[in-house]
Amino acid sequence: MPPEFLTLQEIVAAARANLAPGPWNYLIGGAETETTVRRNRQALDSIAFRPRVLRDVSQVNTSAQFLGKPVRLPVLLAPIGGMESFVEGGAAGAARAAAQFGVPQMLSSVCQPGLEATAAAADALRCYQLYVRGDDAWIDDHVRRARDHGYTAFCLTVDVAMYSRRERDMIGGFVKAWRATAPAGSHYQSGLSWDQVKHFKDKHRMPLIIKGIATAEDAEIAVQHGVEVVYVSNHGGRQLDHGLGSIAVLPEILKAVAGRAEVWVDGGFMRGTDVVKAIALGATTVGLGRLACLGLGAAGVPGLVRALEILEDEIRICLGLLGVTSLAELSPKILAAAAPVASPGTLSAFPLLGE
Ligand SMILES: Cc1cc2nc3c(=O)[nH]c(=O)nc-3n(C[C@H](O)[C@H](O)[C@H](O)COP(=O)(O)O)c2cc1C
Repeated sequence: MPPEFLTLQEIVAAARANLAPGPWNYLIGGAETETTVRRNRQALDSIAFRPRVLRDVSQVNTSAQFLGKPVRLPVLLAPIGGMESFVEGGAAGAARAAAQFGVPQMLSSVCQPGLEATAAAADALRCYQLYVRGDDAWIDDHVRRARDHGYTAFCLTVDVAMYSRRERDMIGGFVKAWRATAPAGSHYQSGLSWDQVKHFKDKHRMPLIIKGIATAEDAEIAVQHGVEVVYVSNHGGRQLDHGLGSIAVLPEILKAVAGRAEVWVDGGFMRGTDVVKAIALGATTVGLGRLACLGLGAAGVPGLVRALEILEDEIRICLGLLGVTSLAELSPKILAAAAPVASPGTLSAFPLLGE
């Protein structure tokens, strides 16, 4: 039996104790100066709440919709390459936790044990994220395989035109096979353009998610191409350094999209309050990257399930204290700008860790 964690702080501490330095640094690190990583947290910490009171919150519902399907929380297990570094069974473990708890999983194409075996591991609500390493026919083949294995949507991650310099991994000698200097086919990723998006939309009926949108301009082009989901992300600060925090760019993207597609977001989301802020702004789903891996690293599948249970409790309490009984009642009116109180970092949402 895994330890009965009461807090996310304990889960993060357990993951840090369990993971060897290579996987740990790979997980928490970002590109170059890690400024984008910090800005993700800084932007979340720059939003405060304006709670309403005396509104009968004896029944609070945290459930949401994910591409039209009911889910327990408005969150998604974001695509993670190399999850096998954090837990035996890699993405299959994440799929089991997703199914057990009741949230969707997005599988990365550079994660073991692969598309077919992950689908067979558990009946999770799932979608598939592809790093493009081939031509249109190669992409079409992956779309077919994903659809045949019950993946309900397809995602192209578009913030990896170049592989970034992750100095923690370089210095520590922890370099994943697909991030070696020139992995086979990586020039296809650099050569991607809206042509591939057009090809996908012309050829396939599967919902398409474009992950890695960071400006209103690109959100507009995505919508014009008929994309179902604009996924606002800076890859958890692991790609372009000196970007803006994800939640800081969310409002301009929501404004540009204007309801013509769903808008999802990730980057630095570690707490229930973080998730509530994004939903209040108008996002429909929040991706969890490192937090999901920390749960797996802490205690495997039960560790991730426990992390999600605690997150659910945090969201429920936050909604109740804001005076709302469901996510649908949230609006930007409950938010206010505020100066952050802590120095931001990957784990700054867990202030007891250093003690
Ligand atoms: C270890 C690790 C591996 C990742 N691998 C992928 C990947 O294969 N594909 C992808 O689209 N994003 C990948 N990402 C980015 C996540 O999907 C997500 O955008 C990011 O982690 C969100 O930020 P957060 O970790 O602060 O929650 C990875 C992130 C981490 C931490």
